[in-house]
Amino acid sequence: MKKIRIMSIFGTRPEAIKMAPLLLELQRRPEIESIPCLTAQHREMLDSVMHLFGLSADYDLNIMEPGQTLSTVTAKALTGLGRVLDEARPDFVFVHGDTTTCFTAALAAFYAKIPVGHVEAGLRSGDVYSPYPEEMNRKLTGQIAALHFAPTAGNAENLRREGITDGIFVTGNTVIDAMRYTIDRFPGTFGNKLDDIDWPNRRIITLTCHRRENYGTPMQEIFKAAKTLVDRHPDIELVYPVHPAPAVREAAQAILGGTERIHLIAPLDTVQMHALLARSCLVLTDSGGLQEEAPALGKPVLVLRKETERPEAITAGTARLAGVAYDNILHEAERLLLDPTAYAAMANAVNPYGDGHAAERIVDAVLWRFGGMGERPGDFRPL
Ligand code: UD1
Ligand code: UDP
Repeated sequence: MKKIRIMSIFGTRPEAIKMAPLLLELQRRPEIESIPCLTAQHREMLDSVMHLFGLSADYDLNIMEPGQTLSTVTAKALTGLGRVLDEARPDFVFVHGDTTTCFTAALAAFYAKIPVGHVEAGLRSGDVYSPYPEEMNRKLTGQIAALHFAPTAGNAENLRREGITDGIFVTGNTVIDAMRYTIDRFPGTFGNKLDDIDWPNRRIITLTCHRRENYGTPMQEIFKAAKTLVDRHPDIELVYPVHPAPAVREAAQAILGGTERIHLIAPLDTVQMHALLARSCLVLTDSGGLQEEAPALGKPVLVLRKETERPEAITAGTARLAGVAYDNILHEAERLLLDPTAYAAMANAVNPYGDGHAAERIVDAVLWRFGGMGERPGDFRPL
């Protein structure tokens, strides 16, 4: 029987983490020829994930430049992907999430008249400038995609509200599949300066911050609040694996650099990152993925944004919107650090985002819809 040729296109760290379980599942299916294609919108952060999951790509556009702009990434990825799709002519293309790579890959596949499956479909904040440009990227990708793999029932509902009614599957988020892989590989130590921390006697706060809409004043307020927190609480160690974007690195260094008990470190590999989360008491973040991972590990999350497209953990009580203002971030964090009852109320392991079987459901759905094989997979439902 002729195999179905499926190209998975991705380019950044979070896409790679969430596509890795899907690539592993595609490799396991005899009906499918899997063709991974990297834009390499990110470079070392992407390579780290590929290495961790033992993956390699058939195509690599290698487009990353230091300090790149949205237009340069879009133009380089679109031109490169046009060529790759012309050459490889896959039967189906997977894209993931809301990055510039995601939207551009969907557009390139549309130009080549190849059907697209959108993994992590239907997340919406309701504001096209926050997250920017991600909210627009995912809306536009939703218009192009033939199949929509919505992590949660709420995400599926968002699509229906936009008039998308066909081809929606509720699958759970593949990030929970990825965590099943990383948790089994947790290291005993981090092999860097974090090993000097007196872990048993310290409370660890993990911070990440990189969103474009937080560049400038919001990021400065966030960092100042983090610094005050550490100054006021001598048992706190703050660990911040700094995103390599120049705007982020410079702001982090200017406000947090050289401070005792603040650890500005290079990005961790994802096994180490999940191990750090598991050892933290609190997570402060504007990241999307961390809002899904920390609740699964029972760690309270304060979201450093004015909105979120991931309301499920807020509903479950393990995440709160702390905004981007100094006073509010400090107030929300101290409430948790000083009040054990408030902390206990948030420190629950919940998994509204998946059960670790999203990749299987996604591949089953493609085989059912495009290959005429198997059965329609049942929807993911959180316990
Ligand atoms: C991108 C995504 C964002 C996602 C984030 C995950 C878009 C528009 N944004 O934002 O949705 O949350 O990735 O991290 O698609 N850099 C390196 N090495 C790397 C990666 C990045 O040096 O491995 C530096 C480069 O200077 C690069 C800059 O970071 O130019 C920005 O990268 P870019 O992908 O444009 O934006 P992100 O902020 O990473
Ligand atoms: N992550 C990582 N190393 C780090 C920081 C984050 O592996 O030093 C992982 C994190 O666990 C999550 C993903 O990267 O799975 C989130 O990526 P990011 O915050 O860059 O992007 P977003 O999710 O906001 O799009």
